[in-house]
Amino acid sequence: MSAHAEPEGSTSYLFDTGSDLGDQQMRVMPVLLDPLTLDVLDATGVGPGARCLELGAGGGSIARALAERAGPSGRVVAVDLATDYLEDIPGVEVYRHDITQGLPDPGPFDLIHARLVLLHLPQRLEVLRTLVDALAPGGWLVLGEYSGRLPYASAAPTEDELALFDRVMDIGHHVIGAGAGQSLRWAHEAPEHLLNAGLTNVHSREYSFTTVGGDTACRYIDLLVRQIAPPLLSAGLSEGQLTRFHELMLDPRFRGWFYQFVGTRGQKPSSGGASG
Ligand SMILES: C[S@@+](CC[C@H](N)C(=O)[O-])C[C@H]1O[C@@H](n2cnc3c(N)ncnc32)[C@H](O)[C@@H]1O
Repeated sequence: MSAHAEPEGSTSYLFDTGSDLGDQQMRVMPVLLDPLTLDVLDATGVGPGARCLELGAGGGSIARALAERAGPSGRVVAVDLATDYLEDIPGVEVYRHDITQGLPDPGPFDLIHARLVLLHLPQRLEVLRTLVDALAPGGWLVLGEYSGRLPYASAAPTEDELALFDRVMDIGHHVIGAGAGQSLRWAHEAPEHLLNAGLTNVHSREYSFTTVGGDTACRYIDLLVRQIAPPLLSAGLSEGQLTRFHELMLDPRFRGWFYQFVGTRGQKPSSGGASG
């Protein structure tokens, strides 16, 4: 379905989903994260007839999965700043839209899902209130976010490379990411905010796994680092260090842990009146 086009508003989102590296990132993310996300989504009972909103839909894998579950009697609305990947998904209505400017479709929705979106947005609390307002009574909000337990290295060919990995993660998240308005505390703060907004049955779960140089998770970490190369260089890393980092992410002697991913769900009471 072709996108409802709209001019992009101002956004601090650090990555560019429409770029070549962003394209590779969108292809890799579902492999890493969809199994957990679908577990959390399916626990809400989403099924035929459901009215769904997929926020920051990226490569569209979850929009597609929701359309399969909602079927022809339901609807799926997908929103992103970049919508090229979403155009041909059967049964999905696409909006190219900045969600900090409000929702392009007021709903109500039985399920709203956003993965790795609110953590990037300084306006996350305002967006959360908008999402809660757009839920139908009994509807579910599901969030997936990375926590402050960053990827870390447990083995590398040299001590210098272990330290290099930590330094890139530290600058990338605590200097560049934080400067762009990202919050790595949000993953663990979100459950309280869902409760404060009036949602019930709030439940969160954490998930992570080991990774080894050359596997999908290391290639994904490298794709993120490649997208922020200019600010990493400005922050004091050298071209040689970045080259060594790229090599390390392909080196099977590198081992570590991937991001910690937190899935959270909360439900609007059936009696309504849950927005706050
Ligand atoms: C890290 S990606 C996650 C993509 C997808 N949710 C997934 O997990 O596979 C974040 C997505 O949110 C989108 N995004 C970021 N800021 C946005 C905004 N203000 N309005 C709409 N989409 C936004 C980006 O374009 C990108 O596709």
